[in-house]
Amino acid sequence: MCGIVGFVSDKKIKVSDLILGLKKLEYRGYDSSGIAYNCDNKIKYIKKTGRISELEKVALDHNLLEEPFYCGIAHTRWATHGMVSEQNSHPHMDCKEQFAVIHNGIIENFQELKNQLEDRGHVFKSQTDSEVIVHLIEENFKKDLLQAVLATLNLLKGTYAIAVMHKDSPNEIIAARKGSPLVVSNIEGISMLASDVTPLLKYSKDMLFLNDGEVAVLTPNKYYIYDLEGKPIHRNPTKIFWDESLAEKSGYPHFMLKEIFEQPHSLKSALVGRLVNGEPQIQEIKYLYDFVKNKMNKIYVVACGTSYHAGVATKYFVNKYSNIDFEIEVASEFRYMNPQVDDRTLVLAISQSGETIDTLEGVRIAKNKGAFVLAISNVVGSTISRESDAVLYMNTGPEIGVAATKTYTAQIALLYTLASQIIYWKYGKNNEIEKVLKEIEKVPKIYEELLNNTNGHMMELVKKYKNFKDMMYIGRNFGYPAAMEGALKLKEISYINAIAYQAGELKHGPIALLDENFPVFAIVPFGGLRDKMISNIMEVKARGAKVIVLVSKEDTQTKKIADDFIDVPIVSEPLLPLIVAPLTQLFAYYIAIEKHLDPDKPRNLAKSVTVE
Ligand code: M6R
Repeated sequence: MCGIVGFVSDKKIKVSDLILGLKKLEYRGYDSSGIAYNCDNKIKYIKKTGRISELEKVALDHNLLEEPFYCGIAHTRWATHGMVSEQNSHPHMDCKEQFAVIHNGIIENFQELKNQLEDRGHVFKSQTDSEVIVHLIEENFKKDLLQAVLATLNLLKGTYAIAVMHKDSPNEIIAARKGSPLVVSNIEGISMLASDVTPLLKYSKDMLFLNDGEVAVLTPNKYYIYDLEGKPIHRNPTKIFWDESLAEKSGYPHFMLKEIFEQPHSLKSALVGRLVNGEPQIQEIKYLYDFVKNKMNKIYVVACGTSYHAGVATKYFVNKYSNIDFEIEVASEFRYMNPQVDDRTLVLAISQSGETIDTLEGVRIAKNKGAFVLAISNVVGSTISRESDAVLYMNTGPEIGVAATKTYTAQIALLYTLASQIIYWKYGKNNEIEKVLKEIEKVPKIYEELLNNTNGHMMELVKKYKNFKDMMYIGRNFGYPAAMEGALKLKEISYINAIAYQAGELKHGPIALLDENFPVFAIVPFGGLRDKMISNIMEVKARGAKVIVLVSKEDTQTKKIADDFIDVPIVSEPLLPLIVAPLTQLFAYYIAIEKHLDPDKPRNLAKSVTVE
């Protein structure tokens, strides 16, 4: 969702630097963008709806791209309050255009504040909640920008990450955070800030992640951190090991395709030192042994979207190999329920970005109830990883495509390894699990073959099915999370109405939808439930629906009854979601391409969902 970037330097910066920073944030999702910079004690700004390339074009047309300055801020907006328009784009300015503010989050009491400000004569130019911030700063400003910002923050209810500039302070940006992410950094005469590390990696690897209730004052040589009362805070930055090149497309047409093809490597990185010759050895959680062995009586997963699907696969895994009580809830529901967690519960907060607000609230609720919260995240220093009691990083490198791909498979492999370690601690070693873990170690190799050999056949299927408006994915047991994830990938980037059901649920309602215009993707297991699945496929076919089966190469019987098939290498049942994921990802990707859609930037979606 909204992205923030800003620089203050003792050397000249250019509009093109801000635009480059914004481009690195594109993946978060946005619908308009804008920048403001200080030119000889005057704030200049440009805004544009649509892609950043549109903003760049405006800058180019007005010869602004190379315009130098020392202090500037930039923003990508994902509309919440007020339609997508230039007026509603950030930066927002006060009545006299002395201050510029960019904001990510939602100001919940904006209407009340706006009414009061209008009564006092302020004129608003947008319908946004954010604009109240700049008018409040205008009112609160006496001589000192920091004091004006602090006074303003105390009036705001809701969430924010903000960056503020004043025309007469060309060497200063004030930033603050509550509920929305913000990171600051400094190197050799330049201080910078951003919503995440990607725009800053080009300059520095030392990042300071602001906590809620912290305010940063950025000057060219240094940044200073304060609390909301203006008391200084001293904290060391975190070293980030991501390389800037990891956030590049490296010759692929889209990040999504690059990330799908990275899976042989990313899966290995997620497991290095954690799964060794079929043995779970996650050092980071060794100190949890006593808690797990002697106290823990439940695992509870809180997550959203794809991360939730990885959690569902883990539920089937834990349930197959142990009697451990395992609950899972979508975070947006969890936070408004009365979840049964206490000091004997291990809560797994799964979040690629580590910033999903619903999952974060779930973490806070679980901690308040005394649970031990272990985050599974891909982003070092993210809010969820910092607020949890412990964290397991996925180590896949940045995922830029909005659709989660490599992080999903890394999550499953890591969660299965974690679950195995927990089961071993509680019940001792288990040969069946060991067999599965040894197979997981072979998955990177299997992926390589799979990814290099599916293209031709996949494209035939894509051409045949791309024009259907609806599609249903069905699976049983481990096939069910695979079906949910396949359907999510297809719907989010191709806008086909793709829905997922447990195959056994069909006759309780969804089968009524099926006819020749509603194809079904059936994920056929290799073991015990294969015959049940075949019966479901027959039921579907009897309604005239076309069926594509994801099935083992050898299963000629199932292939015969289906209209189309995709070969899946034979693996143990629990690996089904792991092994079919690259195939359903590729199917969704190529459908989007055939429909001339941009899979990296699906409409209405954001990579990091920081509003409720
Ligand atoms: O960053 P998170 O894992 O917390 O994100 C949760 C969902 O928003 C996310 O998994 C989303 O469903 C995927 N981008 C879909 O591909």
